[in-house]
Amino acid sequence: MTERTLILAFESSCDETSVAVIENGTKILSNIVATQIDSHQRFGGVVPEVASRYHIEQITKCTDEALEQAAVDYDDLDAVAVTYGPGLVGSLLIGVTAAKVIAWAHDLPLVPVNHMAGHIYAARYVGEFKYPQMALLVSGGHTELVYMPAEHEYQIIGETRDDAAGEAYDKIGRVLGVNYPAGKTIDEWAAKGEDSFHFPRAMEKEENYDFSFSGLKSAFINTVHNADQRGEELNKYDLAASFQQSVIDVLAEKTMRALDDYPVKQLILAGGVAANHGLRARLDHDMKKYHPDVTMLQAPLKLCGDNAAMIGAAGYVNYQHGDRAGLDLNAVPGLMFERINDNN
Ligand SMILES: Nc1ncnc2c1ncn2[C@@H]1O[C@H](COP(=O)(O)OP(=O)(O)OP(=O)(O)O)[C@@H](O)[C@H]1O
Ligand SMILES: [Mg+2]
Repeated sequence: MTERTLILAFESSCDETSVAVIENGTKILSNIVATQIDSHQRFGGVVPEVASRYHIEQITKCTDEALEQAAVDYDDLDAVAVTYGPGLVGSLLIGVTAAKVIAWAHDLPLVPVNHMAGHIYAARYVGEFKYPQMALLVSGGHTELVYMPAEHEYQIIGETRDDAAGEAYDKIGRVLGVNYPAGKTIDEWAAKGEDSFHFPRAMEKEENYDFSFSGLKSAFINTVHNADQRGEELNKYDLAASFQQSVIDVLAEKTMRALDDYPVKQLILAGGVAANHGLRARLDHDMKKYHPDVTMLQAPLKLCGDNAAMIGAAGYVNYQHGDRAGLDLNAVPGLMFERINDNN
C-alpha cells in the first residue's frame, strides 16, 4: 500500500468557515466552505462579532461534513493544520480552538499556517512549484509581491501602502450600489465597458515594487459624486472598466518589474482578486511577451477566495518542514511575512 499523509485543515480568518481533508498536500478529498456573505451584506462589510458567532455555529458541522465527504476517520489523520493569522482575532480563534481540541483529543500534531502562504498554495493544485519563485498576492486585505527563494521561505519585496486591491474594489462597488464583496460584479461590468475615464495609475513608474490604491479610489468616488451633483448618470460599465484597467496596469507593471530584477522560475497569481478575469488575461499576455521562460500558475478560480484546501496544501509543506505548535497556539491577527527591502 502506498503511504499517504492526510491533513485535516481549518480556515476561519475572515467570513468563511472552511474545513478540508487533503492527501499528500496535492489532492483535495473534501473542501467544505460555509460562507457568511449574506449575513454581512447589509452592513457593506464584515462585522467581526457576527463573523465569530457564525464560525462557532458552523465549525463542527463543517468538520463532520469534511470527514464524511473524504470518507476518513480521525484515526486516519496524520496532522491538523490551521490558519493562525493574519485575520480577525475572534474569527481566527474559532478555527485555532477547534484545531487544538481535535489535535489534543486524537493525539495529532498541530501545524500552524499563515493565511497568506495558504493563498499562495491554492496554486499548488494547478501544478508543481519551482524555485526561486515570485507570487503576486492580491486579496481583500493584502496586495504584495512575495519572493520565495526556496520552499517554505517567504519574503515581501513590495506591498500596498494603503488599500489592498480587493478593498478598493469593494469600496468603489459600494459607490455604485454593488453588494459586498463587489469584485466579481465589477469584473463582469468591466468586460462590457471601455477605459474612458483614465483614472490615475499610482506609483506605476516608481523604481520599487510597492502599490497604492487609495488615490484611484478617491478619483473614482469624486468622479461619481461630481456627476451626481450635476444630475448626470455615468455609464457604470465604463466606470468599472476604467477602474479595473488602472488596477491591472499597476499590478502587471510592478510584477513584470519584479521579474526583471529577480530571476525566478515561476510566477504564482493568488488571493481573492486573482479570480479577476482581466488580471488573469493580462498576466497571460505579459508573461508570454516579457518573460516567456518563466512559468505561471494561476490559482484555480474556485480556490482564489478563502478555503481550507489551500491551508491544507501549505500545511502539508509546513508539516514536512517540522513546524509544530503547542496547545498554547494563539491567533496572530497581524501575522506578516518578513519584508526584505526598505519601504521607500
Ligand atoms: N473577480 C474578481 N475581481 C476582483 N476582485 C475580486 C474578484 N473576486 C473576488 N474579488 C475580491 O477578493 C476579495 C476577497 O478575497 P480574499 O477572500 O482573499 O480576501 P480576505 O481573505 O478577506 O483578505 P486576506 O486574504 O488579505 O486576509 C474581495 O475584496 C473581493 O471583492
Ligand atoms: Mg484571504
